[in-house]
Amino acid sequence: MKSFYVTTPIYYANSLPHFGHLYTTVVADCLKRHMRQRGLETCFLTGTDEHGLNIQRSAARTGRTPKEHVDYIVAEGKKFFASFWLDEAHGGYDIWMRTSEEFHYEGAQEFWRRVAARPTPKGRESIYKDFYEGWFCAPCGTYKTQEELSKPANEGDAPLCLVHEAPVDRVSEEGYFFRLSDYDEVLLKLLEERPDFVQPEARRNEVKSFVLSGLQDTSISRLKTSVGWGIPVPGDADHTIYIWFDALINYITALGFGSDKSSSSLGEGAFEKFWPGVHLIGKDILRQHAILWPAMLIGAGVELPRAVVAHGMWLDPEGRKVSKTLGNMIDIDLARRLTSADVVRYVLLREKAFWQDGRLGYEIIFDRANSDLASGLGNLVSRTLTMIGKYFDGVVPSSDIPESLRLQAKRAGVDADALALASSMELARDQFVQSVEGYEFNRALESLWAMIARVDKFLSDVKPWELAKSEEQRGTLGAVLYRAAETIRWLAVLLYPVMPESSKKIFTQLGLAEDLEAIDPTNLKWGGLQTGGRIGEVAPVFPRIDKKKIMAEIEKEAAASNEQTEQQTSPSGAHATQAAVPGSPTASDVKTAPPMQGATEAQAVPGAQSQASATPPEGVATFITIDDFVKVEMRVGEVLTAERVPKSDKLLRFTIDLGEESPRQILAGIAEHYEPEKLIGRKLAVVSNLKPRKLRGFESQGMVLAASVGEEGRPVLATFSEDVPNGARLK
Ligand code: MSP
Repeated sequence: MKSFYVTTPIYYANSLPHFGHLYTTVVADCLKRHMRQRGLETCFLTGTDEHGLNIQRSAARTGRTPKEHVDYIVAEGKKFFASFWLDEAHGGYDIWMRTSEEFHYEGAQEFWRRVAARPTPKGRESIYKDFYEGWFCAPCGTYKTQEELSKPANEGDAPLCLVHEAPVDRVSEEGYFFRLSDYDEVLLKLLEERPDFVQPEARRNEVKSFVLSGLQDTSISRLKTSVGWGIPVPGDADHTIYIWFDALINYITALGFGSDKSSSSLGEGAFEKFWPGVHLIGKDILRQHAILWPAMLIGAGVELPRAVVAHGMWLDPEGRKVSKTLGNMIDIDLARRLTSADVVRYVLLREKAFWQDGRLGYEIIFDRANSDLASGLGNLVSRTLTMIGKYFDGVVPSSDIPESLRLQAKRAGVDADALALASSMELARDQFVQSVEGYEFNRALESLWAMIARVDKFLSDVKPWELAKSEEQRGTLGAVLYRAAETIRWLAVLLYPVMPESSKKIFTQLGLAEDLEAIDPTNLKWGGLQTGGRIGEVAPVFPRIDKKKIMAEIEKEAAASNEQTEQQTSPSGAHATQAAVPGSPTASDVKTAPPMQGATEAQAVPGAQSQASATPPEGVATFITIDDFVKVEMRVGEVLTAERVPKSDKLLRFTIDLGEESPRQILAGIAEHYEPEKLIGRKLAVVSNLKPRKLRGFESQGMVLAASVGEEGRPVLATFSEDVPNGARLK
């Protein structure tokens, strides 16, 4: 049996996954399901990239060890992906790869040793020691050239990374280098000989010109004293392996390369069975996958991947890549809760040409949910099955039009020959399969929706409800409904990789119990729906959305969410209540989410992803455990600056030193009770791991605590009677 191994990038475990990560994972999931239907033995890897400075820093900010931090992110990330049917239990990924696993340490070290032991294609040492001097962006995880940086606002400050718009780190230390410059010719040959190695062609050309412009050797280690959270360099424990070198190897260690243990239940021989695979990536990480990785594999003497396939990015209205750092994306989890996982999966694949960049907003999702799904596919299913219920008592009618009725049927607009419809469906199927396998998901879906439009028109022209008035036309009526139902069967099979749950529902409503994953769409035969079979219970698969109402709700919730935060930061409101406890969302959290997420990658904290959870009924006393309590991180912060927020009677804006690299901006609703200038220099108790929120255009990166006194809840700030260092934790 042929095999198909597809991978997504392994996502940085410094913060929770978001809509960009979801996109690549949905694409990989769709491909895996489709290939499985085609009869291939499939393996789908996703996971987390867990080492490096950025994660080390994120962990320190939340007061956890790096391992505790990544464990938390992995647990939450798995829940997020599972809610979109991407996990193992729902037939999604087979491997959730983690670079902090022991077998990966072994495999990565073995890989390093193999590279070190072999000469470069030009006959020199592949790995050597030297001194590195330059800039490093921790969130990107890459070293930056001058062209990839912008000038700092103040002379003397570190320059800014163009992607993250944040200052980069100066690195000046001894380390190991990979002699990438010796791989230029072999890489150019690869690009010539295997034109499909990098897809699409535009990306291949980009890679080619980059190689032609001259490759630089690349630093592949950091001093343990600067980046301790990483895999030790074999034979030199003072250094840890550079995260990209470490991370890329995951694609093969996951299959058992270099260790005797394998990450999953795949067992022995997985590497032989599944490697080489197809790497799906965003074009932001093209060079690492299309230059560094193949060079590393050549260096180690390991077979190259089948292909590196790079998709376009989701951008914001200003054309910037959406990311948590910039806080410029819609809350895709909210969109899921307001529609369904399948709706979001469909829209992600339908809305953007895979190779191109695209934009997505709530309205686009709701519009497609209504037009393509509720009115399109959903309506075709329910009108067809409802009529089979009504006119044939729920029993699938015969597809044949009796000879004697053919002329009449023709007059009624029903082509006596069902082949016309069947061959359109076959053509649409072929286009769909070809497009999916060529990564053109939007085209694939377009071809099916053209078919939906065609059958819809057929029903509207033929008017089965008119045919139903005459007993004589019963045979024709049955044949019409059979054709529509048979089209629906084909659609459900084809759409299973895109919308697995909805396809299953449609199948059940058709009265079919087969496993959709086991039906190869290229083997479908027209007429496979059994006459005489009983259909199931008919219910809307894609309920219509009241877009106006939902949009108004989102706006209202966004405003309320700001207001609520204002109250949370305001001691006159319900501050430090359960609502403010990360990881313990209240019912209102479930509904509440601003149209733009404000959390930054660097500040992502436990509980930043709101997940539906039960809240106890009012008046019922609840206890929290110590585990709940430790989720709230409170620290001592010194007020450096304080001022009133323009046009707000309540809000003060502080910068507060929490003993971190830079002070935080925190807003608090206490302006009616405190003169800002009198607070400068005061040490306050601050909740430091609260999800950042925007208030009146300012991001609040924490919450100050105060007692709420008297009926009107006058705020009295919590302070300290002894001197305490900034950043000290309250326990
Ligand atoms: N950890 C590295 C990858 C190592 S793979 C050996 C990394 N992680 S990441 O968390 O930054 O994820 C990057 C990937 O997430 C992109 O390549 C892409 O697949 C996906 N996306 C992140 N933001 C995205 C958009 N705005 N749009 C589309 N995809 C996006 O890089």
